[in-house]
Amino acid sequence: MAIHWPTNYLYEAHMTSAFDPIRIAGGTLPNRIAVAPMTRSRAAEGGLPTDLVVEYYTQRASAGLIISEGIQPSVVGQGYPYTPGLHSAEQVAAWRRVTDSVHAAGGRIFAQLMHAGRIGHPSLLPDGLVPVAPSAVTPKGQVFTAEGAQDFVTPRALTGAEVRATIADFAEAARNAVEAGFDGVELHGANGYLIHQFLAPGTNRRDDEWGGTTENRIRCAVELVKAVSAAIGAERTGLRLSPGNPYNDMAGAEPDPQPLYEALVKEIDGLGLAYLHLMEYGPDARETTLALRKHFSGPLVLNPATEGPTDHRALALVEDGTADVLAFGALFLANPDLPERLRTQGPYNTPDPSTFFGGDARGYTDYPAR
Ligand SMILES: Cc1cc2nc3c(=O)[nH]c(=O)nc-3n(C[C@H](O)[C@H](O)[C@H](O)COP(=O)(O)O)c2cc1C
Repeated sequence: MAIHWPTNYLYEAHMTSAFDPIRIAGGTLPNRIAVAPMTRSRAAEGGLPTDLVVEYYTQRASAGLIISEGIQPSVVGQGYPYTPGLHSAEQVAAWRRVTDSVHAAGGRIFAQLMHAGRIGHPSLLPDGLVPVAPSAVTPKGQVFTAEGAQDFVTPRALTGAEVRATIADFAEAARNAVEAGFDGVELHGANGYLIHQFLAPGTNRRDDEWGGTTENRIRCAVELVKAVSAAIGAERTGLRLSPGNPYNDMAGAEPDPQPLYEALVKEIDGLGLAYLHLMEYGPDARETTLALRKHFSGPLVLNPATEGPTDHRALALVEDGTADVLAFGALFLANPDLPERLRTQGPYNTPDPSTFFGGDARGYTDYPAR
């Protein structure tokens, strides 16, 4: 006897939703909803995450994946006050408390390794250090320091040997991340920080093997991905990119970004990375996302360009195959139980920008779950 399945049942049975599991980093995420990386500037002296940081991430353990705030892989990589590091034994021990607590609550967490490059200030750095970058190109604007807003300074251009040493710092920080219990690391190649500064011709004026041609400008990102993959395994290594994002004085620094990003993604595809994470900027970004997805055979994490904070309307992007995992920033900051709220299409607590960076529990761990 023929069985007549209702057609809508068949459709639903084949459509992937953001609430379905996915395998990443040798494990299974129970859903495809990630906490986007968010700097919160609440680390203690020495770049140490505190009890409050433990509580903040643990509250968000119902995410399929938590991607941490940007963490500096070296002293000189720090770009903002009160950001944490992963370059000392004390930092590793302090992060271990975060990862243990997230795991005990049933979650998974990657460390975002962020070297700010020219975005920073000498007053944030010890021993007379100044920010370093591919080239001595001063960012326009001001930086937030412990003494208030100050003009950016001209960064010191790294020597070729120092670029190699910086890559080694990332690999060491990645090993530290795994020792601290992180499930993997994400390299911050977006938003105008060091890796992005190497990619963009406006901030990379070098004429050695690290600058000039497309092949040379992607070299830093490629070598970093390879070095970190060798240190902790490609399956635990992710990369975040934001083609054409003007943030941090990158406006005009990247004319016609798509070919460069295609070259980069082609070069790293086949390494078996945990994921590629794209942060979209602007109305034309989706075209680039779709082009890059064609060149990448692993999971795509997407932080889509939206008007206002990304919300449940983005869930359709998993259903239509645009992305495999979605990253939510501001709404996850304000809603510790975001996956459940996305399922019911809200309502949401409203994020308060005045408590985004620095301060205490207010605007950090006091947003209520339902
Ligand atoms: C308070 C705050 C801090 C952020 N810090 C980082 C960061 O450390 N690293 C990063 O890659 N992106 C950072 N971002 C960008 C977010 O990851 C995300 O791309 C952005 O908020 C847009 O997504 P949304 O609409 O879901 O908020 C930050 C965003 C916010 C709101």
